[in-house]
Amino acid sequence: MERLRWLIFLLLFGENEALPTARFYPTKNNNMKITSPTKEFVIVEEMECAFSCSRETTCLSFSTTKSAGAVTCRFGDAYDARRTADPGSKFFYKEPVTTGYTPVPGTSSFLKLVRIDGLTWIEADAKCRLDVGGRLAIPATTEMLNSMNQTMIANLGVDIVCKYFFMDGQSKTNQYTWSFLDGTSLNITAKGDGNFHPNEPDSGSGGQCLMMTRQYAVAPFYSGFWVDSSCTSGVVQFGCVSDGYFCEIKIPN
Ligand SMILES: *[C@@H]1O[C@H](CO)[C@@H](O)[C@H](O)[C@H]1NC(C)=O
Ligand SMILES: *[C@@H]1O[C@H](CO)[C@@H](O)[C@H](O)[C@H]1NC(C)=O
Repeated sequence: MERLRWLIFLLLFGENEALPTARFYPTKNNNMKITSPTKEFVIVEEMECAFSCSRETTCLSFSTTKSAGAVTCRFGDAYDARRTADPGSKFFYKEPVTTGYTPVPGTSSFLKLVRIDGLTWIEADAKCRLDVGGRLAIPATTEMLNSMNQTMIANLGVDIVCKYFFMDGQSKTNQYTWSFLDGTSLNITAKGDGNFHPNEPDSGSGGQCLMMTRQYAVAPFYSGFWVDSSCTSGVVQFGCVSDGYFCEIKIPN
């Protein structure tokens, strides 16, 4: 993070009592505006936005937008909040807390595998969000996929069939169209495309959720490949139940 300038806010209240200290970092191009803010209000000085954000644990980033005589402050609920380029705006994210997570080499993401049997995707999604800044892991890069695969192997050993972990990804109109929490999408055309197991996806419908297998229940067993499964059931297939989930914290660049 050496390339980052940082801002520090030491808030002093009353009788020399030091209250919350928060650091905020700009991204490389920080002329960005948060697109779906959790809060939006008008202030006079840009500093007030940092001040307010530092006092709310759910505020993990903010943007300020100048207009005639006023500044609009927008809060983000992720360090890497979705944002759009805007010359009149500035974007900052709070100093990240990644306790319990492991860095994913070659990325700005941090990963955690949680092993709990029989949860649904909906429950796993909620649990990741309980970690400030966390959400289900998005299998967007080769580095992330390798880390997930190696983390499962490290945790479960080599030869262990019928193990499935939730990650982000929901199918839309059919089993071949997928969308992710960061607004990205993926379209495949046949079973076994991309990172899917050769027999997957196999639900025949949309509205399913994505899992990574370590290993598949029947041959070919394949570690680290994807399957589609119900979002609202802990039973995956062939009598196998879900074995946990991956959470991710992503730091913006
Ligand atoms: C996938 O298909 C949807 C619907 O046709 C489309 O909106 C989206 O842009 C496509 N995604 C990719 C990555 O091509
Ligand atoms: C996961 O790791 C195993 C063992 O290294 C490897 O055989 C497998 O191909 C990997 N899966 C993916 C999708 O890369």
